[in-house]
Amino acid sequence: MNISFEKAKELLLKNQVVALPTETVYGLGARFDSLTAIREIYRLKNRPQTNPLIVHIADINDLYRLTTSVNEKTIALCNHFWPGPLTLVLPANTRTSLPIVRGDLSTIAIRFPNHPLMKALIKEVGPIVAPSANLSGKPSATRIQHIEEDFGKDFPALESLSPLGGVESTILLQNDDVFTLGRLGAIPPEAFLPILGYIPDFSKKKGPICPGSHYKHYSPDAVLEMDLSQALDNDIILGYTNRTYKENTKLLPLGHSDDPEYLLQNLYTTLRELDINGIKRAFIDIDLPQTGLYRTLLERLKRASSKN
Ligand code: TXA
Ligand code: MG
Repeated sequence: MNISFEKAKELLLKNQVVALPTETVYGLGARFDSLTAIREIYRLKNRPQTNPLIVHIADINDLYRLTTSVNEKTIALCNHFWPGPLTLVLPANTRTSLPIVRGDLSTIAIRFPNHPLMKALIKEVGPIVAPSANLSGKPSATRIQHIEEDFGKDFPALESLSPLGGVESTILLQNDDVFTLGRLGAIPPEAFLPILGYIPDFSKKKGPICPGSHYKHYSPDAVLEMDLSQALDNDIILGYTNRTYKENTKLLPLGHSDDPEYLLQNLYTTLRELDINGIKRAFIDIDLPQTGLYRTLLERLKRASSKN
């Protein structure tokens, strides 16, 4: 149910959960200090409480309030990428945030989103925690109808006035020595080279990464296969408008293979369409470059097709 900005503000102040737009995907928002609303977020999403939330801020002072150590490179990253789709995992000041926000970890994930409605709301009600507005494990919500699919027609949602980027923020973890990738996202790893002097990668060490990366994710109910040679007559192929596929298969187009931004913008809508249309199995064309935003796209496609 579409609600106004004023209504969203009122519900947040009343410790309720509201679906909110960010520049990446819709989030299920609550005030970061509202224990009841945060519990409700985990319940609504059916999300394990060991999978922590991102705190969204709109005032750089909150970065310092919520953390204990912000190094020079982190400041450079904030100056360059905020507001924007970069989430930083930093040592938490455990006295200034609820343990439930952090999944009881000693670190906290923070981002300064670049969506005018979200920024304005944070200015009104303070920092907002917001996981993606989907049932745990399902594709994220990039349109208001996706929120209705997962949480019902009456669920309060503030609609974006412009289309969303379509894929979640990139997560970087600040370690003592180097930044590591926590999640591929809207900013390709190569974009950090000028600021960090290197391209961050996933940590080789065992240790805390993003708890969310252990779970099945972004998956429709439909079974997704990657070996196109197995496609039979009438099978659906999630593929590209500029390619031709096996005769008698049906193309469900993700977009032109040269345009990764467009492909990401429509990815979750297309994955959700499979279930809406009752499609039980489809094939995905993953023959794409391994660089830039294609890495994010390939990771999401592979996770969406993962069987566990
Ligand atoms: O673009 C986005 O980031 C969206 C919009 C709504 O802001 N939010 C989002 O939240 O994707 P969510 O909850 O779906 O994903 C957050 C990820 C999870 O994988 C979680 O495990 C990880 O961030 N995370 C949160 N706090 C963390 C921490 N302290 N250490 C490591 N990972 C953390
Ligand atoms: Mg999510």
